[in-house]
Amino acid sequence: MVVRGRVRGAVLATVLLLGAGACGGETAPGTDAGASAPAVLDGVGPISLVTGKDISGNLQNQVDEWNSAHPDQKVTVIELPEDADAQRQQMVQNAQTKSDAYGVLNLDVVWTAEFAANQWVAQLPDAEFPLTSLLPATVETARYFKRLYAVPTTSDGGLLFYRKDLLDAAGVAPPKTWAELSAACEKIVPSQPGMSCYAGQFEKYEGLTVNFTEAVNSAGGSVVGEDGKPTLGSEQARQGLNFLVDGVKSGKIAQKARTFKEEEGRRAFQAGELLFHRQWPYQYAKANATDGSSTVAGKFAVAPLPGLTGPGSSALGGHNFAISSFAKNKKTALDFIRYMVDEKQQRANLEKTSQAPTWAALYDDPALVAKFPYLTQLKKSIETAKKRPSVVKYQEVSSAIQEAAYSAMSGTSTTEQALTSLQGKLESLTGK
Ligand code: GLC
Repeated sequence: MVVRGRVRGAVLATVLLLGAGACGGETAPGTDAGASAPAVLDGVGPISLVTGKDISGNLQNQVDEWNSAHPDQKVTVIELPEDADAQRQQMVQNAQTKSDAYGVLNLDVVWTAEFAANQWVAQLPDAEFPLTSLLPATVETARYFKRLYAVPTTSDGGLLFYRKDLLDAAGVAPPKTWAELSAACEKIVPSQPGMSCYAGQFEKYEGLTVNFTEAVNSAGGSVVGEDGKPTLGSEQARQGLNFLVDGVKSGKIAQKARTFKEEEGRRAFQAGELLFHRQWPYQYAKANATDGSSTVAGKFAVAPLPGLTGPGSSALGGHNFAISSFAKNKKTALDFIRYMVDEKQQRANLEKTSQAPTWAALYDDPALVAKFPYLTQLKKSIETAKKRPSVVKYQEVSSAIQEAAYSAMSGTSTTEQALTSLQGKLESLTGK
């Protein structure tokens, strides 16, 4: 049971007392099972918000609004690199030195287990946040052994961005399968100078883990099964990886696309260099900008990711705000997270940036659905998305996946060799 007490005085403190096995009788590995572990979320004053590069462009506006209402509790944004792996590395280094330089951490959904198990982030009291208004799948990503360690502020689901103008002109429907995608490219791309068929995030970093996982899942396979055992020996895993490998071999995935993270791909799509692009929802607003930065504004639409025999399945992405265990002014951090997760901020952020909200009702709001027609489909994709493995050693798992996908796509190993080696590595990492 979680006991919350409020201490009123010079500061308003939220005190969180945790008994052993507090939530559902489970004890998280890495915690002292015998002791009660009080985490005191107190202290009011300036804090930092540490985040990957804000490619949406709206974060500073949100922070400025908070700062003008809270002049004594100013939030300073510390921007880390764009690449998820590099962000994690800096956050881990900060935690290992127990530095108080980082306050609120914008954690990728796949890092919760590692940061919670190592006690680098404070356990949060459920009752302080509007969790029941958020999409349940997003709240799950913020829990470790049922306890809450972060609050979902943005979600993410993969979408297929396609050039509607060119598909319509050729009389081609948005593809539901990889074969249809290939056929559409064969029909349209040859008459479009400088255009290639398909790109996703294929640079060797977390984005490649996402794209590999989606390919395997979209062929009906899985990276790890329900019981946590790696399942890369399956025919479906082979067909999934082959979608990417054959794409490179046939030139449908251009060589250049193998260096794409999110932003390189977005720029290529906006420059009219891609017929299809697997991307997160934030691209919708950017590619529709009418300030001259995009040549494809009004010319594209989005569809669910295609798969081997029908629509594919997205990996669940997104970000959660956590409080560093070593931060000062944790009460301000908690209040700032409440402000950021609130419906008003999420609505404004969706309108400005097309980033996927976690506030469930926004997906059914008629005005928003009219502006962002893909919202209904995105909600379904988030609700049914497959989670990447939720393990403390996630980075090692992800690096092994990146290595396998990269070596197969660059032709230094066959699909079968890459999957056999990955299966072995994941078995030893997960102990299954
Ligand atoms: C997006 C997703 C995140 C994912 C990353 C990979 O930021 O929200 O979950 O890990 O892309 O590049």
